[in-house]
Amino acid sequence: MSGHEPDETWWKTRSVYQIYPRSFRDANGDGMGDLAGITQGLSAIKALGAGIVWMSPIFRSPMVDNGYDMSGYREIDPLFGTMADFEALLAEAKRLDLNIVLDIALNHTSIDHPWFQAALADPSGPYRDYYIWRDEPNNWQSIFGGPAWSKADGDDAFYLHLFDKTQADLNWENPEVREEIYGAMRFWLDKGVSGFRLDVVTVISKPPGLPDAPDPRPMPLYDMLAGGPRLHEWLRDMRREVFDLYDCVAIGEGPGLNPERAAAIVNPADPMLHMIYHFDFVDHTGARQGKDWDRVWFKSVFDRWDKGIGPNGWNSCVVGNHDLRRLIARFGDAEADPDQVAKALAATYVLQRATPFIYQGDELGLGDTTITSVNELDDVWAKTTYRLARSKGQSEAEALAKAVAMTRDHARTPYPWTPEGGFGTGTPWLKPTPNRGGVDFASQQADEHSVWAFYRALLELRAKDTETWVFGAYEDLLPEHESLFAYRRGAQGVVCVNLGGQTCALPEAITALMAERSCILTSGEVTPTHMGPWSTHVWV
Ligand code: NOJ
Repeated sequence: MSGHEPDETWWKTRSVYQIYPRSFRDANGDGMGDLAGITQGLSAIKALGAGIVWMSPIFRSPMVDNGYDMSGYREIDPLFGTMADFEALLAEAKRLDLNIVLDIALNHTSIDHPWFQAALADPSGPYRDYYIWRDEPNNWQSIFGGPAWSKADGDDAFYLHLFDKTQADLNWENPEVREEIYGAMRFWLDKGVSGFRLDVVTVISKPPGLPDAPDPRPMPLYDMLAGGPRLHEWLRDMRREVFDLYDCVAIGEGPGLNPERAAAIVNPADPMLHMIYHFDFVDHTGARQGKDWDRVWFKSVFDRWDKGIGPNGWNSCVVGNHDLRRLIARFGDAEADPDQVAKALAATYVLQRATPFIYQGDELGLGDTTITSVNELDDVWAKTTYRLARSKGQSEAEALAKAVAMTRDHARTPYPWTPEGGFGTGTPWLKPTPNRGGVDFASQQADEHSVWAFYRALLELRAKDTETWVFGAYEDLLPEHESLFAYRRGAQGVVCVNLGGQTCALPEAITALMAERSCILTSGEVTPTHMGPWSTHVWV
């Protein structure tokens, strides 16, 4: 037994499906996904078995970073529709018993936000202190590349932007800023949303005096900034002023966190956020791609986070999202059957002791896209990468290769509803991922052996036997094995996945467990002694 009292809190037992609104479904034929399209698509998410829908930002924005550059905290961007469309979406979600979670960027706003514009127009006015200014920049580098400080035309001071230069960091030291954000969150909760995913929330508290970083490159800088001196104080405030007033969930994006830091944030004895997700699976260098990525490392990430948070607090499990190359491209094997790979990877994360987050398209086994020219890039980070590479003298081909290796566009292509595309009637804003055949919702929903059907089966297991698959204790049974990922959940659950292209003999420890159990879900080959390439088996 897990040793824990089952807690039926909905955000633990339900699974999350993440929508990238630009790419989910286009109802009005303008080539851009929209709220009406999402409303139409909710029943497909329900059929899959997810219970919570997280939508990447839908607020007013100039869309330099596709909505993570907000210019209005209480407005829907016209690209996605109107407030009435949003209310219709909420009503449909309610009808289907789905919880809607919004994504809010609270570390920064767009420089188009009226606050930033007022700060420029009147440097001695109240809005100046909404942002962070210096006469001389420090050495911090922006996550997207280049310095983290810029000057607006005609202004004397530098403003801080940890991301693009159009995303100015808010000054959270200013209580009015905090009140504005809390008020905006209450505004949406009053409308009936079930919570928020808080964009890069771990970096809102900057170190006093903004000292130079020992290592100003983006990732070490994240580590330095995460968990700033007032982070816990503000998260407790937020909990008291906002989250505790509603039945809602607050999910923090947690760059720079290790399990120890994260555990402090989700500790039920000192409540701040309900869940946090880490960056240990992030690989923007591509170093872990290809056939030979390190399985032992991959498994150790799950184990470390379960040990760090599982017994106290609650984990979320995000392996793929809109910022990463596709799951099967990062952790697959180009020579293997992509459907088998997609199913095997699904079984690694959906049945963890955590709330799993499924990113749109991963449940179809969608792979990376093909990009052959710089004009096909949309991602601001990739375009900056390209530009910086060119400015350092790299050839066009080298710069493009670098951008294609990291671009977030791979995960942002239109969702394939039918074999022909089915995203909408207009020309989509981003070229669709070439279909290797059968990677679309309609075909997969009709095929009981599809990746989609496999995800549905995993989600059903999770929903039906929460004692085992939601709350059961986690134990990695073969942490050193270079191909097999075998883990135990609670007293009865056992999952075994072959993460490799070779048939693998099952160690005795596993065959002994199999002998006492029945197999309830399988993909690929199973014998009492062996597992075929990229096969998955689940026993209780
Ligand atoms: C994290 C988001 O997931 C990403 O898409 C965005 O570019 C940055 N935060 C900046 O808001």
